[in-house]
Amino acid sequence: MNYNKKLKLIINHAKIYGFIFKSSEIYNGIKSIYDYGPQGIEMKNNIKKFWWNYMVKYRNNIVGIDSSILMNNKVWKASGHIKNFNELFIINNIDNKIYIIDQLINNIIDNKLIKIKNKNKIKLIFNYYLINKNINKLNLFLKKIIKKYNLSKLFKWENINNINLMFKTKLNSFDNDQEKYTYLRPETAQGIFVNIKNVKLSNRLKFPFGIAQIGKSFRNEIISKQFIFRTREFEQMEMQYFFYPGQEKKWYKYWIKSRLKWFYYLINKKKKYKLKIHNKLSHYCKFAIDIEFKILNKFKELEGIHFRKNYDLKNHNNLSKKKLYFYDNKAKKNYIPYVIETSLGLDRLFYSILTNSLKIENINNKKRIYLKLPKFISPIKIAIFPIIKNNKIIKISKNIFNSLKYKFTTIYDENKSIGKRYKIQDSFGTPYCITIDFLTLNNKTVSIRFRDNMKQIRCKIKNLIKYFKKKFDISLFFKKNI
Ligand code: GAP
Repeated sequence: MNYNKKLKLIINHAKIYGFIFKSSEIYNGIKSIYDYGPQGIEMKNNIKKFWWNYMVKYRNNIVGIDSSILMNNKVWKASGHIKNFNELFIINNIDNKIYIIDQLINNIIDNKLIKIKNKNKIKLIFNYYLINKNINKLNLFLKKIIKKYNLSKLFKWENINNINLMFKTKLNSFDNDQEKYTYLRPETAQGIFVNIKNVKLSNRLKFPFGIAQIGKSFRNEIISKQFIFRTREFEQMEMQYFFYPGQEKKWYKYWIKSRLKWFYYLINKKKKYKLKIHNKLSHYCKFAIDIEFKILNKFKELEGIHFRKNYDLKNHNNLSKKKLYFYDNKAKKNYIPYVIETSLGLDRLFYSILTNSLKIENINNKKRIYLKLPKFISPIKIAIFPIIKNNKIIKISKNIFNSLKYKFTTIYDENKSIGKRYKIQDSFGTPYCITIDFLTLNNKTVSIRFRDNMKQIRCKIKNLIKYFKKKFDISLFFKKNI
């Protein structure tokens, strides 16, 4: 199945089975913004819990916060986002499309139909102008390449545009001392940097320590395709790990290894992951690596692991005039800690899991579609079906439902044929379906049907809780890997 067809299938499946809807769909939606449906929110919460347990709950020296989305606009001045969080793009007069500059150059260089000499040199010059924000030279250089390789029939533009990606928002303030505007945060990290002193003092933390949070971020993306891969409103799961300067190599290595272990447990296909050194560094970054995942045949960035040195704390220290440095007893001096951050896009991860899990099989000339989700991520863990609407069978079914629902996300369904009920649960990715039938009345056993191979076993009702506790227990992973 080709890329576009598979993407369409996933978008369709996500909508029909209540994972993801287009935002404000009845008004034809709003570009690159999505809502999560009943299955979507359960699955999203399960992913968050898996991340939080691994990064915060089961560690001694990492704590969590939940900082605000709107902050004093000086935060964004100090962080460099007002000045640097920009995208360069052209509007192509030939096809009226928008092209982000670095994508444009990569498309030209990597296009097999265009014979280009000295590709690496071109990339180097291009990156030099880009990093130094020399837009005039960049414009002239790009136009020279277009002319030299006879691409003028494909590309023509007036200027390179430079636009800030933050959403600016007005504050109703009648007090002259107050700020009149601010921005929706484009990363959750700044909420952590500005709170370092509060968190350290309130929790008596000693370096090295980490602060983590999960929350919404907003970017006014210019090009935003590929479903929920690049959206204007999205969630990040970020952790800032602070330490004494000089230990950056040790913690960088540690976090790459540690994050990979987490990813491999979630989607156990090592070949689908790739580490990529980041060459287009953000303004705050000294070095960075991306954890990429193969989504629908293309490797895409899922998480960035960044060494931000003390860029952010130093700038907040200078602008706020509040002391964001600490005394080191050994070195007997003040210092501003360095930081390694791990920054994961939750929606991107969600998308990766969906694309990786959607399975299509042909069984007896009938198409079977199911979501082979990791069990602990599935929105519904167990579905309970009375085989028919018989009073005794319904009573037992509801009793079983009531005994399981406080321990596992469980649903009860008595409508439609048993085959149809299995089919719906397969599409939700529910790993286990329990059916209560006439044999149950005789020997107090039920059937448990497995999503992945559709096989069935019998299990005594009194053993169900113990059986499923074992099936959903992932504590060994945490014990071995933290
Ligand atoms: N605090 C560092 C930071 O925000 P980033 O590389 O700009 O770094 C981190 O973003 C992660 O956030 C990305 O790897 C990606 O998973 C996710 N992300 C960034 N922009 C996104 C967007 N427009 N839509 C969805 N996810 C996005």
